[in-house]
Amino acid sequence: MKISLIQFAPQLFNREYNHNYIINSIKNDNSDIIVFPELALSGYYFLNREESLANAYDFNCDEMNAFKYLAEQLNKIIVIGFVEKSGEKVFNSAGLFFPDSSFNCVYRKTHLFYKEHNAFDRGDTGFFNVKYPDMDINIGAMICYDWRFPEAARCLGLLGADLIVCPSNLVTPLWPKVMPARAIENKVYLAVANRYGTETRDGETLLFNGKSALYDFYGNELCQAAPEGDAAIATDIFPEKTREKSFNPINHIFKDRIPEKYSVLF
Ligand code: ACM
Repeated sequence: MKISLIQFAPQLFNREYNHNYIINSIKNDNSDIIVFPELALSGYYFLNREESLANAYDFNCDEMNAFKYLAEQLNKIIVIGFVEKSGEKVFNSAGLFFPDSSFNCVYRKTHLFYKEHNAFDRGDTGFFNVKYPDMDINIGAMICYDWRFPEAARCLGLLGADLIVCPSNLVTPLWPKVMPARAIENKVYLAVANRYGTETRDGETLLFNGKSALYDFYGNELCQAAPEGDAAIATDIFPEKTREKSFNPINHIFKDRIPEKYSVLF
């Protein structure tokens, strides 16, 4: 099974450019799974809800239906970060599109970063695993700043994910030290599709640091993009290899957990 990570610089508010870029990337890709960055359809730096709502999509709109159609036609799992409108709420979401459309779903970002608090509601889906039998893969999603919380990847690992996809707009240099640990401690593949470039709002510039990477379940970097520049990086993965959580005849990374020792009362 092959996975591609697409790194690019979405243009803020330029929905047409971003949409076309994503469609072309999907059509030119020959992997089974393709992952795009966080907020790939809109750009990142919204100052308020008016801006995020003006760039939001209903999961059943024409643009989303185009991705659903491509997932079916090309027999490909597609993951894309987008602004999602649902009722009165607006979420920083990732759409997961499957060849069998009955599995299509969204993950809504749980941990909001910085001024996202002014533009989005906190995600309400929680963490979940999609068991997709047609490709024999378990796939779970988290988004960008969720990386700071080991609980996010841990939930996905405990739920049975073989692969965690992490659409991102990362700005800190710290994450490459931590993502491999998330992969090791849960024995999962971890796919970080990050963007690059800058966005300046109200005199503040955010620099997104690229280096999209795919980590295997030992934390090895199987492929990595440069800090800047468009890239489509791809590698083979073997989801079934993540499922044996014993690493010797006695120890098991999940069964050895002692949750009653982990309760912290504050
Ligand atoms: C981030 O969560 N986009 C840093």
